Amino acid sequence: MYRAGWARASAISDNVLMPLLLSSTPVDCTGVPLSAVDTDLLIIPWFQEDGPGALAGNNAIDPATGGEIARALTSKEFQAKPFELLLTAITDRSWRARRVALIGGGSGEQGSDLIRKLATAAGLAARQKRVARAAFAVRGRGDRAELAQAVAEGLTLAEFYGGNYKTAEPPPSAPPAWTVVVLNGMDTTLDPARAAVARGRVLGECSNLARELANEPGNTLTPTEFARRAAALAGDAGVTVEILDEKQIEKLGMGLLLGVARGSVEPPRVIVFRHVPPGAPETPVLGLVGKGITFDTGGISIKPAEKMELMKDDMAGGAAVACAMRAIALLHAPIRVIGVVPTTENMPGGRAIKPGDILRSAAGKTVEVINTDAEGRLILGDGLWYARQLGATHLVDVATLTGSVVVALGKITSGLFGAPDAWVQLVRRVADRAGDRAWQLPLFDEYGDQIKSDIADLMNTGGRAAGSITAALFLKEFVDGVPWVHIDIAGTAWADEARPYLPKGPSGVAVRTLAELAFAMTAIQND
Ligand code: BES
Ligand code: MN
Ligand code: ZN
Repeated sequence: MYRAGWARASAISDNVLMPLLLSSTPVDCTGVPLSAVDTDLLIIPWFQEDGPGALAGNNAIDPATGGEIARALTSKEFQAKPFELLLTAITDRSWRARRVALIGGGSGEQGSDLIRKLATAAGLAARQKRVARAAFAVRGRGDRAELAQAVAEGLTLAEFYGGNYKTAEPPPSAPPAWTVVVLNGMDTTLDPARAAVARGRVLGECSNLARELANEPGNTLTPTEFARRAAALAGDAGVTVEILDEKQIEKLGMGLLLGVARGSVEPPRVIVFRHVPPGAPETPVLGLVGKGITFDTGGISIKPAEKMELMKDDMAGGAAVACAMRAIALLHAPIRVIGVVPTTENMPGGRAIKPGDILRSAAGKTVEVINTDAEGRLILGDGLWYARQLGATHLVDVATLTGSVVVALGKITSGLFGAPDAWVQLVRRVADRAGDRAWQLPLFDEYGDQIKSDIADLMNTGGRAAGSITAALFLKEFVDGVPWVHIDIAGTAWADEARPYLPKGPSGVAVRTLAELAFAMTAIQND
């Protein structure tokens, strides 16, 4: 059976996850001229500034098509607008490929973010055309290896399939076997580009695994099942995984997590990941914390029915942590990393917490529950505390936390919060490069007044105004001064509308950011 993203979700359910995870097809990388690339479809990004002669010598594609490209550019049939496609034959018999597709790159920045998106869009098109072998030429500005990695990520992201539960539709055909072509790649060693392509492949696959998890319905992906799958996919890569059950959770005093879990018949879990590479320094220790609500009904403060089905993805942050842990282990990140994913359903059962109830957190702080639908910050409060207990010196949490962040930043940008600023800026830079858009929002002390309770230490909601900020400030109460970043992915975890580079459904946001962060941190002083 071919290895593919979509083979996996069912494979996981069938409990044969491990062999499939290990049998991924590598993406090839070559430095030969375009004329010598042996493939069925050659895909070349084409920018608006490019004339027909943009590629020369053995890469001269226009003459190889008998001047078709020049003709299409002149007639404006093809204008290189973003994601526009031009498919034409290669008539020059000395070329090995028989067809070429130009994909428009527009007139903006030509960095890794664009090339990643172009690769995904091209990958989706190649899949649709059932191409068996396809090659994608790396073009753009910036570091060649970084661009090559982005291409491999983008091509891999195009392999995600979310239709596992359809029985009337045949399963999609295998994706093309990919070759990444480094232009003028014979000039210098290809090793960095080769390594970058392999790295991009891993990061793309781990993103797709997170998408599969976020796509799973709540009745399949209960907290117990989420923990089992997360343990399998991370454990397979060499991550040490421990699953805490209710008894252990109770012993740790995680009253916030237990409070949320009371409304459900499904027991909660805490999934704990440890990546401890041999010889790694004692510090820094990166602590990743992900929200793992496998379904959010809102609890007693129940949500309206419309679009509630999308609340199956309320564990997307937890999935990002689990899948980033897998990538971190596969790529041998040189520092220690801890992952903590508290997971439960938020249901309105007979024993559910009620507005006005007061919960005691593992950190000792008491919380007056004003709205049971603000459950994410509750379980994360205990999760952040636990990551600190396990020795995290730098924290990042990822959560589909607030509708408010969607109002502020829409569906393409995650909210970024934290302190101190140096740590926030490092995460922001890494996120930018990884193609996970994020924008910082402020945590001014004055906002904190909104979550002061008359009767307990904190309230779990702070009213309508600045809802994503007060949610972040609630989390800040549990980090005890440890450098911390919070990424609110409520808008970015799920695409409501298809874009050329992202079909409707789960996006896999934050996986690449979290994994790359473990590498970007090596410069941080041990203290
Ligand atoms: N999981 C939701 C946030 C969410 C909303 C994610 C929309 C994705 C799309 C979260 O648990 C929630 O319900 N938040 C409330 C908080 C409020 C009660 C203070 C919200 O944002 O409405
Ligand atoms: Mn909620
Ligand atoms: Zn939620």
